[in-house]
Amino acid sequence: MQRKITIAIDGFSSTGKSTVAKKLAAELGYVYVDTGAMYRAVTLYALNNDIIGDSGCNKRAMKKHLPEIKLHFEFNEKLGYAEIYLNGKNVEKEIRMLRVSSFVSPIAAIKEVRVKLVEIQQEMGKNKGIVMDGRDIGTVVFPDAELKLFLTASAETRAHRRYKELLDRGDEVSYEQVLKNVTDRDYIDSHRENSPLVKAEDAIEIDNSDMGLEEQFERIYGYALRLIKNS
Ligand code: DC
Repeated sequence: MQRKITIAIDGFSSTGKSTVAKKLAAELGYVYVDTGAMYRAVTLYALNNDIIGDSGCNKRAMKKHLPEIKLHFEFNEKLGYAEIYLNGKNVEKEIRMLRVSSFVSPIAAIKEVRVKLVEIQQEMGKNKGIVMDGRDIGTVVFPDAELKLFLTASAETRAHRRYKELLDRGDEVSYEQVLKNVTDRDYIDSHRENSPLVKAEDAIEIDNSDMGLEEQFERIYGYALRLIKNS
């Protein structure tokens, strides 16, 4: 039997991490975990419970509510990947709205939120055979992952991709709003005190601004197969 490995995919927002991660997991028969969805679900909880208001996020209230937040993933056969549930409710669609994207970075900067989510992520990946995407997977969650990738693309390319996705979902937004959200999140995610977004020293960097999904996938799949065969 082939040995299973851990694959960590990090990078800026809207670099297509989840698309390539889902495909990779499906090809390898691995579990796929979208850790951004977990930070988004906590943000949705905060929005729905008045922890985020006009004056921003009430960190004390957020920390107090953390034990009440239960997250789990359930595999959706039709979609071919696992969807996220917040306190028993499927929130996969709601967490993608710009309302959530606008507040997720400050929530993800709270140390206690990160400690709770990292613990769940490490538990999910303890048996390997996992593809996990996020911002700190190769640096904090699985520093010993066999394959680490760091995806990048220009802010404009990423904003165009996200804008199209949001329009397709019926979210009424302007391109300028999306570009601002992308650049704001880049800044907060890479300058926060706790687990900032940085490329792990041993991660392979891929700039996919001018790369099709197939080309990118073949390259990454090739790295994974080589590692699995050599391990
Ligand atoms: O991948 P995404 O855009 O859905 O992630 C949403 C936010 O969550 C992102 O702005 C930063 C945060 N995040 C994080 O801090 N650490 C992770 N492992 C994943 C996401």
